[in-house]
Amino acid sequence: MRRPFISANWKMYKTIKQTAEFFKEFLPLVKDVKDVDIVIAPPALSIPKAVELTKGSNVEISAQNLYFEKEGAFTGEISADMILEAGCPYTIVGHSERRQYFNESDEFLNKKTKAALAAGLKVIFCIGETLSEREGGKIEEVLGRQLTEGLKDISADKLVIAYEPVWAIGTGVTASPEQAQDAHAFVRGKLKALYGVKADDLRILYGGSVKPNNVKELMSKPDVDGALVGGASLKADSFSQIVKFK
Ligand code: 13P
Repeated sequence: MRRPFISANWKMYKTIKQTAEFFKEFLPLVKDVKDVDIVIAPPALSIPKAVELTKGSNVEISAQNLYFEKEGAFTGEISADMILEAGCPYTIVGHSERRQYFNESDEFLNKKTKAALAAGLKVIFCIGETLSEREGGKIEEVLGRQLTEGLKDISADKLVIAYEPVWAIGTGVTASPEQAQDAHAFVRGKLKALYGVKADDLRILYGGSVKPNNVKELMSKPDVDGALVGGASLKADSFSQIVKFK
């Protein structure tokens, strides 16, 4: 049985002060949730405050990004060791916004994932097709490539996969539960080719306009093990409803 995994990705939203305000409201709302992994990825500057405020709670913190070198002259970047030492156990890698706006390739993301895992971070690895790729019948080709190249020579331990169709991110257009299930089943098949039976234990999250009113149906699908939530994770009330989808 795969344990549900519900994660917030705040993207470039919330100052340190707003982060503190969120947790003050959010933690009491989810304190009794025992059977879901709850993870929140704030902007890097808010990570120490978020770690401090969630200590001893049922909520864990994730970074949104990292650089693969250990240290050096890489202005503006942060390393896996810096994230880990801040008390943050997870990082997202390969979000479509990184791929799209910062030109991050599969090969580059492979290096980041390796660096994160080698340092001891757990990785939420994102994949997903654009609308034109979907309409061009290329879903399997794109997801297959993102997985085989992005996860090349990487072991399955400590990986969480997030399927986020680009056309569903921030658009209010959610993949239907059936579209999500089809893609997740394909992804699990690919992961089986990479990792064998271990793929049965890997959690595959869906991301793209997840809201309190659609999460339950998405989560009812056999290969949908969780959600990666953007817009609806910014308010304590709506994200707590998503966490308590059952
Ligand atoms: P939205 O929930 O705002 O569509 O964002 C999804 C996402 O990109 C999470 O990483």
